[in-house]
Amino acid sequence: MAPLSSIRTSGDKIEIVNQLLLPHTTEFIEIDTIQQAHDAIKSMKIRGAPAIASLAALSIASHLSRALQASPAPEFLSSPSALKEHVEPQLALLSTARPTAVNLGAATRRLTKTLDAAIDAGKDARAIAADLIAEGRRIDDEDVVRNRQMSKWGGEWLVERVKKTGATGADLNVVTVCNTGSLATSGYGTALGLITYLHETGKLKQAYYTQSTPYHQGSRLTAFELQTLKIPSTMLCDSMVGSLFQHHDIHAVVVGADRIARNGDTANKVGTYNAAVLASRHMIPFIVVAPISTIDLDVPNGSVIPIEQRPALEACLVRGALYPPTTNAQGIKEQATVMVTPSDLEGVYNPSFDVTPSDLITAIVTEKGVAVKKDGENTFDLTEVV
Ligand code: MRU
Repeated sequence: MAPLSSIRTSGDKIEIVNQLLLPHTTEFIEIDTIQQAHDAIKSMKIRGAPAIASLAALSIASHLSRALQASPAPEFLSSPSALKEHVEPQLALLSTARPTAVNLGAATRRLTKTLDAAIDAGKDARAIAADLIAEGRRIDDEDVVRNRQMSKWGGEWLVERVKKTGATGADLNVVTVCNTGSLATSGYGTALGLITYLHETGKLKQAYYTQSTPYHQGSRLTAFELQTLKIPSTMLCDSMVGSLFQHHDIHAVVVGADRIARNGDTANKVGTYNAAVLASRHMIPFIVVAPISTIDLDVPNGSVIPIEQRPALEACLVRGALYPPTTNAQGIKEQATVMVTPSDLEGVYNPSFDVTPSDLITAIVTEKGVAVKKDGENTFDLTEVV
């Protein structure tokens, strides 16, 4: 079966898979407006740093493409300044949907740059809109290509590194956190892409993935993707990483990223830091795989990365299919959301991400290659990479 993709487009029509219902129900939702794109990102119907950036960019492209075909033409196509006045608030709305993933802000900033460049070049409103449409679609298209590239760089680097320890570099056991595959990107994935690459080249023995509570990106989404791709895999609860490292031969931890500071400190799904500390204790390489657009050179270190706090209620709920399975009259598996805590729990700590300091990170892989720290240094200098 082909891997799922988070977004499908046909002309100006955009649909996303409602990730809140996966893996039991595959429901596509049409995204017709920029407000709907914003809401889908905020409610995590679509999630994963590159995927939310793609949806934001595509929603602008589709909105403007429909406007160009409309008759009569909307007022905002009457002049470059009217278009700017219309588009800028839409980009601002999209960029606020989730604060940690820098790709979203990078995509909207890129579109702002396109807008300003086209205005400076003296283009009329329709030509400026056409430039924005092309750039929006480009942001989505380029994601898959770079994911394949970084997965290959990272996979080859890991195999060579393992070989240096005297092992064959085959039969690798690799751990990941959260979901970084097709559902989190426009296709193939970042950290899960690296795992897929190892599998495709016959180097992977077993992929391990944490459940990644409270949203369960691991047990719902990564499990589904690995099962679909027929990649041998094992799920573990977030609290079992230390035990896994004590009792199994693990060759690497590979994770994605939502924002990487200039010195390499990396914000990723909460629980990533725990895995990094344990990996360091067990001398297991810890590898971050992310596109260049995830590196934020304006942020010197992880202490200033904004960390999204999710609603307390989300940490009190578990969502899934009824067990034993029950199907409704349409043959669809019944799902439910249940509360696993006492009602109205007062104290709940629910950050969506944590920051792994660069000293715990062995390598940062982007579409440009593999960055490692200079000998004797604890941090990366990513100005040299971007
Ligand atoms: O809250 P989410 O599910 O959007 O968090 C996703 C992650 O933390 C991913 O690891 C990250 O976005 C990289 S996705 C290729």
